[in-house]
This record gives sequence, C-alpha cells and structure tokens, in this order.
Amino acid sequence: MNKTIQASNLVELKKQGEKLVCLTAYDFPTAKILDEAGIDMILVGDSLANVFLGLDNTYEIGMTEMLYHLRAVSRGVKRALLAVDMPFLSYQVSIKEAVKNAAEFYRAGAQAVKLEGASELTLEIVEKLTEIGIPVIGHLGYTPQSAGTIGKGKIQGKTDSSAKNIFEQARKLEEAGAIAIVLEMIPADLASQITKSLKIPTIGIGAGLDCDGQILVSDDIFGMTEKKLSFVKRYAEIGKEMNKAAMDFAQEVRDKKFP
Ligand code: KIV
Repeated sequence: MNKTIQASNLVELKKQGEKLVCLTAYDFPTAKILDEAGIDMILVGDSLANVFLGLDNTYEIGMTEMLYHLRAVSRGVKRALLAVDMPFLSYQVSIKEAVKNAAEFYRAGAQAVKLEGASELTLEIVEKLTEIGIPVIGHLGYTPQSAGTIGKGKIQGKTDSSAKNIFEQARKLEEAGAIAIVLEMIPADLASQITKSLKIPTIGIGAGLDCDGQILVSDDIFGMTEKKLSFVKRYAEIGKEMNKAAMDFAQEVRDKKFP
C-alpha cells in the first residue's frame, strides 16, 4: 500500500508477484479518494464519454475533454501512477500527431498514455513515444474505439485465429516498449497465457483472475452506473444513497423542515 508506483518499476512489481490495482477517475474528488485508498494506477479513461458525459461511444470525445479531466484528476493524485487514454483520432493518423498529443498529456501531468490496438502504425508510435521518454500502456482484446468494426461490447479472442492474433499483438507491444497491457473482455485462459509469456504486467478487465492486475471503472464499482456488465462487481450503492439524500432534502424543504 505504501509502495511508490512508477512506470519504470512495473516489471519489478510483476516479478515480485504484486497485483496492480487500477481504477478510473474523471474528477478531482474521486481521484483524491482513490489515491488515498492506495489504488496503484488511476486512469483517466475515455470511458469518460459514456460514464461521465452521457455519450454513447468513446469516439465522441477528443483531446479537449481528456485534457480538461486529466488536469482535474492530476490535482488529486499524489502516489498512484497517473495514466490517460489517448482519445479516438489523437494517435491513429500519424506519428507526428500522436507525439504532439501524447506530449500534451505528459506536460499536463500524465505519467503514461494508453493506446488501443497494435496496428503497424500504433507499434511505431509506441516505439517513438518510448524513445522520447513517454511511457505507453497498450490495450488489446475489446477496444471500444473500434466498436464500429469489431461490434459493441463483443468478447474478443474466442476463435483460435483471433486468440493467436491477440497473443501476437501483446508480444509486439512488449517488444515496442509498452510498460503494461490492458486486456479487455478476452477468455481467461488466453489472458493467462499472455500474462505468463510477457515480462510486462497485464491488467485485466473481464479477462479472468490470472492477469497481473485488474482495472474497473470506478463508477461501476461504486454503484453509480446501471448494472450491465457481468464482470463488474459493485462494492457500494452510492447512486442509491445519493438518490435517497436528494429525496430526503426535497421532502424536508417541501415540508418546511429545512432549514
Ligand atoms: O476507458 C476506460 O475506462 C478503459 C478501461 C480499460 C477501464 O480503458
């Protein structure tokens, strides 16, 4: 709980068998609560679009929204590793654009940027950013920015060829310099094989127990969102508590009991 998490010591933590505990945050108070709770990595995820801004897809937001929320979150984080998602089209077009955008996040306080997929261009970007000194986290399996082509919320890696492809992509991301890889919605045995074959840690979300770490969306575990995903566990029902508090307040004002 008191260890300092840095991009450069993730491989060492994996060797020691330490589980990496990761959650998302989009605002200052949540970031501060998570940091004080000893969460190892806080991700300003582009799930910001769906969870916080009420949009349908992650590809509906860009650099402006991500930077605004990253800055708020960074004010609340003292100990955890702070990572940020590079939003749709901030890296898929060219290495030049990717470097410019990643540098903006780095200057705004992110200690690592996360990119989805492992296309040839993405691998080159991972190499370039690593060479410059900006740590990169990969993201394989279900990659929400590609929902249009792979199908929204669809488990990946179920066929032999798809599993082989994800395995190969993970290996290439490690080779390109990624410091960790998020594995989203893939079969547990595939995640386990990838985890065993890499030196860098895997961080699972709907990918079984054997990943080196786990990540979930904070609002899901706090009970702030609708129950939708089978792999999410709700550790609180804060949404219900807020609803009750708002209703109690309304009642007392209407009954002239408050103030
Ligand atoms: O945007 C996000 O929240 C993510 C998940 C892996 C948690 O990328």
